[in-house]
Amino acid sequence: MKVIISIMMAVTVFTSANSATPVYLDSGAPVEQRVEDALSRMTLSEKVSMLHAQSKFSSAGVPRLGIPEIWTTDGPHGIRPEVLWDEWDQAGWTNDSCTAFPALTCLAATWNPELSLLYGKSIGEEARYRGKDMLLGPGVNIYRTPLNGRNFEYMGEDPYLASRMVVPYIRGVQSNGVAACVKHYALNNHEVNRHTTNVTVDDRTLYEIYLPAFRAAVQEGGAWAIMGSYNLYRNEHCCHNSRLLNDILKGEWGFDGVVVSDWGGTHDTDQAIANGLDMEFGSWTNGLSAGTSNAYDNYYLARPYLERLADGRADTTELNDKVRRILRLAFRTNMNPGRPFGSLCTPGHVSAARTIAGEGIVLLKNDHGVLPLDLTSPRRVAVIGENAVKMMTVGGGSSSLKARYELSPLDGIRNALEGRATVEYARGYVGDSTGEYNGVTTGQNLNDDRSADELIAEAVGLARNADYVIFIGGLNKSEHQDCEDSDRSGLELPYDQDRVITELAEANPNLIVVNISGNAVAMPWAGKVPAVLQAWYLGTEAGNAIADVITGRVNPSGRLPMSFPASLGQVPAHSLGTYPGTKRTDGTDIVDCNYAEGIFVGYRWLDREKQQPLFPFGHGLSYTTFKYGRATVDSRTVTTDGTLTVTVPVTNTGTREGQEVVQLYISDLKSSHPRPVKELKGFRKIRLKPGETAEVSFTVDRRALSYFDPDRHGWVCEPGRFEALVGASSRDIRSKVSFEVRD
Ligand code: BGC
Repeated sequence: MKVIISIMMAVTVFTSANSATPVYLDSGAPVEQRVEDALSRMTLSEKVSMLHAQSKFSSAGVPRLGIPEIWTTDGPHGIRPEVLWDEWDQAGWTNDSCTAFPALTCLAATWNPELSLLYGKSIGEEARYRGKDMLLGPGVNIYRTPLNGRNFEYMGEDPYLASRMVVPYIRGVQSNGVAACVKHYALNNHEVNRHTTNVTVDDRTLYEIYLPAFRAAVQEGGAWAIMGSYNLYRNEHCCHNSRLLNDILKGEWGFDGVVVSDWGGTHDTDQAIANGLDMEFGSWTNGLSAGTSNAYDNYYLARPYLERLADGRADTTELNDKVRRILRLAFRTNMNPGRPFGSLCTPGHVSAARTIAGEGIVLLKNDHGVLPLDLTSPRRVAVIGENAVKMMTVGGGSSSLKARYELSPLDGIRNALEGRATVEYARGYVGDSTGEYNGVTTGQNLNDDRSADELIAEAVGLARNADYVIFIGGLNKSEHQDCEDSDRSGLELPYDQDRVITELAEANPNLIVVNISGNAVAMPWAGKVPAVLQAWYLGTEAGNAIADVITGRVNPSGRLPMSFPASLGQVPAHSLGTYPGTKRTDGTDIVDCNYAEGIFVGYRWLDREKQQPLFPFGHGLSYTTFKYGRATVDSRTVTTDGTLTVTVPVTNTGTREGQEVVQLYISDLKSSHPRPVKELKGFRKIRLKPGETAEVSFTVDRRALSYFDPDRHGWVCEPGRFEALVGASSRDIRSKVSFEVRD
């Protein structure tokens, strides 16, 4: 290494019009010229030092040239607290708390791209204010099984929905001069065995289901960074996977940003050099992979790379490509003098968090109009359940936060009902009373030694004397719930909550269940409970958002971004027995997982198998009602490369203003290849006053009609009859219109 430090590159020195300023420092010069100029001035060791971490979350710059370090942060729901230089433990700063935004599952459930832009812009401002150059998020891995411990960090089961929602998030973040790092690329659909799972998936499924949101992030969102995932594909780890990174990401999609490894996801220097990894983070510390601490020189892309450059096993072709990408990143972020300053925990961020949370809550069921609460006369309200009080921003893995505050559902409901109802609380069950992550503690003491019977008796006692009972339970961020590095062990609610809910339903007919989770859960009591709300991890403003919906201040407009199966038997990863995979018997620890269901994930499977889920993809009720008129097309025929407009009138037939998510599904009635019964290809969220009608139009293009043909390695639009289905969910189609596609 010492020898190499002295080797200077053959330099071509560019200077700007103002000859005193080198081109790379001239922010008015084109970025590619700045990149070439900076590159030409760098030594080999300076170049290699940029390729790997220097601390848990940062990589080196080039101090000699005034090129700053790159500082990264999790992501994706708020800005992670500062950690020690080489440890996961928090550093104990007192100025690093943040706004906790709702989990990405909630954002996806808003079906509102404008809110995604607001989310990205707001979280980007917080990242910028905290001095970060790269936000480690958003996540867009497809929801393949409800047991995946990280689904809460992703955007649901449908590639079209995830694509439309991820693009504005990225643009919002990057408008701050902060890079979005889209993760985890790719096929990272469960957590158990996450470092050793080798996914087998056919190309059609890869391109139709698992890649579209990443492609949209890169090509439409213009993401400046992407994170490789821990798992393997085709027997190569995804952080240095030749096909995913070189062929598809950088080749087919023309990605010009940096590929960042997941923390500890790099395993081989030669593969890392050759297969498209640009920056290595997190391994060889006492963090994710074993090793000594502060050993950053030992990284796969550190000394071992320098040694290969010195003895000729590697040349500078790949090196220069990697460094160019990192320099581009610098010019886009910390060497962009025009980027805004950012801001932290502003009223605007709080309001964004509340709006997104309120729009993401899904009213799954509302028999006899139990909701919103009728507060025309004084009421007694019993709130039951651990999740009414438990802080959810701490825990769950790398997305854990130190929120400036988190308003609990109980406090939110108390505040909202003050003067209109008495609110009493009983725990109902004890789940997980701990609350700590990497040294950040909730400060809550949730210990309770009472038996299940005692807790239930207390809750039922309150329920009997109440006008309304609001049960707030679900999952939490503890291991084997919604938590990184582990999966759930079943679809059922933990801690015997089904029993608590069943007994409450017997005690009081006005029971409202609020399920807080990032995943679908089984609801064996659904038929006995008049109202069910799906609330996600809602962040800082959780309590206000839930109270807003319960009281009717906000008319619910969230829609499920994933199907809620009636049982795991309706999820092909489970019914076909491919989850979590089969351990090889060759002495390696590789676990093979074959995505045998192919393109039939989520509602695509339920439709094909004609199975009735508990709640379908796209489902969500409102306090008002919407009537759909007849869908029409502007032409009965369209050529394979033409476009067609589908229009449908939608009227608010109820008595409240509300938002409807009008969904367009396309069905290819006859195809030479198996196709899903229907696929989401458009949606619009519209706001209507009572009695108001809107004409909602969708443009259907070739992409919406095509399937991916692996033999031709391209999208194919096959002539024939198609149907446009317009509806309020994947199982609530209100109008259909057919059309013919011609060559
Ligand atoms: C996670 C990433 C995260 C990184 C840094 C990893 O364990 O998989 O999502 O960004 O840690 O915290």
